[in-house]
Amino acid sequence: MESETVGIEKLEVNGDSSPEDVVTPWTVESTNDTGIDYDKLIKKFGSSKIDQELLDRFEKITGKPCHHFLRRGIFFSHRDMHTVLNLYEQGKPFYLYTGRGPSSDAMHVGHMIPFVFCKWLQDVFNVPLVIQLTDDEKSIWKNIKIEDAIKLSYENAKDIIACGFDLNKTFIFSNLEHVGSNPAFYQNMIRIQKSVTFNQIKGIFGFGDSDPVGKIAFPPTQAVPAFSSTFPFIFGDAKLPCLIPCGIDQDPYFRMSRDVAPKMGFPKPALLHSSFFPALQGSQTKMSASDINSAIFLTDTPKQIKNKINKHAFSGGQTTVEEHRKLGGNCDIDISYQWLRFFLEDDDKLSEIRKNYTSGALLTGELKQELIKILQEVVGSHQERRKTITDDLVKEFMKPRDLGFVLKK
Ligand code: TRP
Repeated sequence: MESETVGIEKLEVNGDSSPEDVVTPWTVESTNDTGIDYDKLIKKFGSSKIDQELLDRFEKITGKPCHHFLRRGIFFSHRDMHTVLNLYEQGKPFYLYTGRGPSSDAMHVGHMIPFVFCKWLQDVFNVPLVIQLTDDEKSIWKNIKIEDAIKLSYENAKDIIACGFDLNKTFIFSNLEHVGSNPAFYQNMIRIQKSVTFNQIKGIFGFGDSDPVGKIAFPPTQAVPAFSSTFPFIFGDAKLPCLIPCGIDQDPYFRMSRDVAPKMGFPKPALLHSSFFPALQGSQTKMSASDINSAIFLTDTPKQIKNKINKHAFSGGQTTVEEHRKLGGNCDIDISYQWLRFFLEDDDKLSEIRKNYTSGALLTGELKQELIKILQEVVGSHQERRKTITDDLVKEFMKPRDLGFVLKK
């Protein structure tokens, strides 16, 4: 069987004429105004495009309209999604796995995208979901104290729960807390560590001789939740297929997971890949929590949202009103429009905005106003929901427990 594992170096997307995009778990960069060339990325990574046929099948089998993230190509690539739909069609069980590296207590709106989507998938398929908080990863990479990293996990868990996950179907865990108390987790980690060589890890992730060994040992930790026997309290000893929604930058971890799956006696995890949520300054890079002006945080006030968008959102409009009326704006590079694709659910309204901005009938200030209004609503209602989430509720979500899905042999 041919390995899917591609080295980091090879993941740099070399176009014939266009400059290079770089997509790794640590760096996302494009020199293009419109951002990463996702079609090229699909070719390089060897994944499959989410095409109309898959969307139609999705709707037919689930009986539900596709989420706008799917309709608009925000989730644009997959591995083995047809297999997951086949399972669902046959009434066979599977589960969802996603995660987050809690690197700062202020999450931004881009961080919510995979969780909003997972919540939707959980509702549509009625399946259990495990959410890994890689505080170990962040402690190693960002040199955060172990105790502080665990605290960040708990803070982030509140924001994640505020997305509306069902307590009866969701298990959230901090690696630093959970791994040591779950022998099945450690045992699967060692199974993977046994079957991946240092050379392979170097090839996939690019680590070198001076990196702490923690980095080299980490990838199996992100891989194990893709194998259901890691969570015997949820899945018993059933070998359930797993579906992982994630940013495409996380794909190297899961190519490795798919490579080791047959050796573990498990089906290869399926994947749904999202594109990146662009920074306010433009699509060349993804939004970063460390640059406060590149992002709208879930803690921002309505006034901060308004000011940041007015001041920093990169505009695809013309420099004067006269020119804008004459030449129109460019939605493909305009960040306010690009963000509306994520947050404005109404397809008709979005296409009307696109038409009017492109023709010049809608001015940049007016377009920004649309985005400000929606984001103030989204962030405001998130803050309301987050307030209601108690420490006790977080503990409930993070307690290893039977979710009512344990499958008897
Ligand atoms: N490494 C990811 C990050 O830094 C966190 C993560 C762990 C994850 N497991 C995952 C993301 C599974 C997506 C799917 O954000």
